[in-house]
Amino acid sequence: MIKNRSIASIDDISEDEMIEVFDVTERMLSALESQKRLTSMAGKIMATLFFEPSTRTRLSFESAMNRLGGGVIGFSDVKSSSVSKGETLADTVRMAESYSDIIVIRHPLEGAARLASKFTARPIVNAGDGSGQHPTQTLLDLFTIKKEIGRLDNLDITLVGDLKYGRTVHSLLLALARLDATVHLVSPPSLRIPHHVISAVKDKIDITEFDDLSRVIRDTDVLYVTRIQKERFPDTEEYQKLIGSYSIDSGTVSMMKKDSIIMHPLPRVDEIKPEVDTLPQAKYFRQAFYGVPVRMALITLLLGGDL
Ligand code: NCD
Repeated sequence: MIKNRSIASIDDISEDEMIEVFDVTERMLSALESQKRLTSMAGKIMATLFFEPSTRTRLSFESAMNRLGGGVIGFSDVKSSSVSKGETLADTVRMAESYSDIIVIRHPLEGAARLASKFTARPIVNAGDGSGQHPTQTLLDLFTIKKEIGRLDNLDITLVGDLKYGRTVHSLLLALARLDATVHLVSPPSLRIPHHVISAVKDKIDITEFDDLSRVIRDTDVLYVTRIQKERFPDTEEYQKLIGSYSIDSGTVSMMKKDSIIMHPLPRVDEIKPEVDTLPQAKYFRQAFYGVPVRMALITLLLGGDL
């Protein structure tokens, strides 16, 4: 259904299409677990245009395409591309179009992926646009909740940290608004979620905002922790004041329900202590692993490969 579509926002994928992505992800997961060799993307090429740093997103997209038998080209550092010579986004995308079948783009400016999609007939996938969105992260976040909790409805979800600049929470909140969820937003007052995101969801979902995590921790099914986005602060002094605002340690986890889970898009800095990693609630490494089968599913559906 989503064949050839560009995914700039999570709202570019309907609920039914999301279910289809998750069904295909299950199949990809079984293939990965049984080490089955897949070749459905043989002869296809994915271009990864990364104008901003990335570890998980780029590597999992590349791993996904390789696991499907396809090829990958691209850059992960603008210094090594003609962008450093002043090439425009439009020209870079036009070039990528003639060398590839699908283009994955990460860019520091909000709206860059949508803009890029105007210059090409190839599907563009937004791998993060400034403080805008990160739709494929949302797909893997929802898939993680579905797998680790067993359902996507009737959940109590707490998003904590930098809700202003964090693009993963913007996309996630838009998606949660389509599910039957109760959402708590916990952040320092200066890092509250932007108004445009709240106004897009407020009529569809029950949301409350807090500064203090202890107000909601006991009821939470999913604790979604985020990094303070240092690189987006116009003033580093402001960042210094906010670093360490929240720190999840074993004491925090002891207040949580036994069957609750802790997620984080990663990288983390100091917002989750390493002692939490071995606790049963810690699911953030599993979450990062799910990035591969979810992206295998998405690439397959966008390029119309055999399932
Ligand atoms: C996130 C991002 O780039 O927005 N990382 C990721 O893609 N997994 C979160 C972050 O950088 O804090």
